[in-house]
Amino acid sequence: MSRIPIKDRDGIARMREACAVAATVLEQLKPLCRPGVTTQDLEEAGRDWIARLGARSACFGYQHGARRYPAHTCISVNDEVVHGIPSLRRVLREGDVVSLDVVVWYQGYIGDNAFTVPVGPVSPLIEKLLRITREALDLGIRQAQVGNRIGDISSTIQQHVESHGFSVVRDMVGHGVGAAMHEPPEIPNFGRRGTGERIKPGMTLAIEPMVNAGAYKTRTLSDGWTIVTADGAPSAHYEHTVLTADTGPEILTVPRLVAAQVLS
Ligand code: MF3
Ligand code: CO
Repeated sequence: MSRIPIKDRDGIARMREACAVAATVLEQLKPLCRPGVTTQDLEEAGRDWIARLGARSACFGYQHGARRYPAHTCISVNDEVVHGIPSLRRVLREGDVVSLDVVVWYQGYIGDNAFTVPVGPVSPLIEKLLRITREALDLGIRQAQVGNRIGDISSTIQQHVESHGFSVVRDMVGHGVGAAMHEPPEIPNFGRRGTGERIKPGMTLAIEPMVNAGAYKTRTLSDGWTIVTADGAPSAHYEHTVLTADTGPEILTVPRLVAAQVLS
């Protein structure tokens, strides 16, 4: 029996709203990733946009073991894979890659998305890393079809990434998302076709390939949060929250135009 929550009409409508907010916030942060900007600048912009849109950060105060996450966004630079803590001391430079992860809580539901931005021109290797990771997300989303299995998403992402000489992180996985940030099922970025739970209509899934230019191994920094690649090679991360509609997968984390009165 599946423990994966199925959203009804009302739940889907609310997920749509929460995801639109998460995507709109993320969209505001992308153009700010320029040389000289600190990751704390990005955090403050994210924090302010989340508030302006009437939402709350699902990351701020998020508890893991004895620790609470201290920021409203996760900003991970270069060899940082995910859960980088924004800092005044971390100044972006040309050639960096910045993963922005925005998770908001809005009227009882959670929207989760991430995007990796190049700062100015980046090396050909990093260009390729970003492209392959984006493609892996896109191919994974296409597998989120009713009747498929979770393993079809996982294996498709892994195959695309590894066939281009990169590796998928094993220590962190995608996940169901809804009233809580992490619901069943786990969605690894590696696995075998035809395995895992069957996809049904009304599931909302956060699909999020984390891809390393080098080996897949990671470690956690002494801050207790920041995950980095063990070999120091750069990493990329893209994420969408996706609805498994009976008409096919639908990306819910799509930005909305922001009304002029919100901007002023
Ligand atoms: N998108 C991340 C995840 O699904 C967000 C984590 S928030 C943090 O794990 F509080 F753990 F940083
Ligand atoms: Co997530």
